[in-house]
Amino acid sequence: MTIYLGTPAEARYWCREQRKGGQSVGFVPTMGALHDGHRSLVERAVAENGTTCASIFVNPLQFNSREDLDKYPRSLEEDLAILDRVGCKMAFTGSLESFFPEAGDADRIPPVVPLPAIAGLEAAFRPGHMEGVQAIVERLFRTVGPCRAYFGEKDFQQSLLVRQIAAGMNTIEVVVCPTVRESGGLAMSSRNRRLDAAERELALALVRALRAAAGAWHGGQRDPERLEELMRGMLAVPGITTDYTAVRDPENWTAETPPGPLQKGRALVAAWVGGVRLIDNLDLDTAGTHSSTVRPAFRGE
Ligand code: PAF
Repeated sequence: MTIYLGTPAEARYWCREQRKGGQSVGFVPTMGALHDGHRSLVERAVAENGTTCASIFVNPLQFNSREDLDKYPRSLEEDLAILDRVGCKMAFTGSLESFFPEAGDADRIPPVVPLPAIAGLEAAFRPGHMEGVQAIVERLFRTVGPCRAYFGEKDFQQSLLVRQIAAGMNTIEVVVCPTVRESGGLAMSSRNRRLDAAERELALALVRALRAAAGAWHGGQRDPERLEELMRGMLAVPGITTDYTAVRDPENWTAETPPGPLQKGRALVAAWVGGVRLIDNLDLDTAGTHSSTVRPAFRGE
């Protein structure tokens, strides 16, 4: 059985006890509404560690709209059943106040000093979002303590940020795992639950745009602005509102489009399909070879 703990203090104690017994701890931070992408992270954590835990906390600090926070899917019972099935030993949650006890009140949580990966893209379109992720991930890492922490590559900018957080802590090893896709190519996301059948079809334009950029890259196009234009054009269809199409050097993150030609490229998109904001990305060098895992659609969706 996966045990479910309601406070960070209990989770900290549990993790410490596991380590005393000599077990390495795998950790999968989540906001719940688990899908096959999360499941693959937990499976990997279970395979690579003596014991595995997950957090389930819809972090208000990373939502820049109250409506988005309220609409974020929640399915605790199902989540715990999934964690149990794949061998996760403990799941924990907490309140903002319990993660930041020194603030006294959730409104008084001090701002973080933003790390470099925060710059641009998600930060520009969701003010405060990346800072909110930084604040909670730092706390989650401190709660769990020394561990191997697993994140999905779908949130590419977040994966750079969590590596930078971990680099400042010394006791956390970050493992970034490939994006898991539905059979049509749509990147798995908790937000996909809010798409109806027509929107789900429309949402495939995101991965098509990324693949078109990868095709152009393999054809020799190394100018990031041209690749961004190509993707923007493919997303210019009724029903889709694009926040950004971007190409970045993954090893040298910049807020703005870097000057070309690039040696390495990561294509990223964020777009609204109906009322749902979706993000996705592809490594342009390896796209079409091994950059993503496809699983059949989650049962029941
Ligand atoms: O990727 C997520 O689900 C969240 O951003 C995270 C890392 C759990 C922090 O709230």
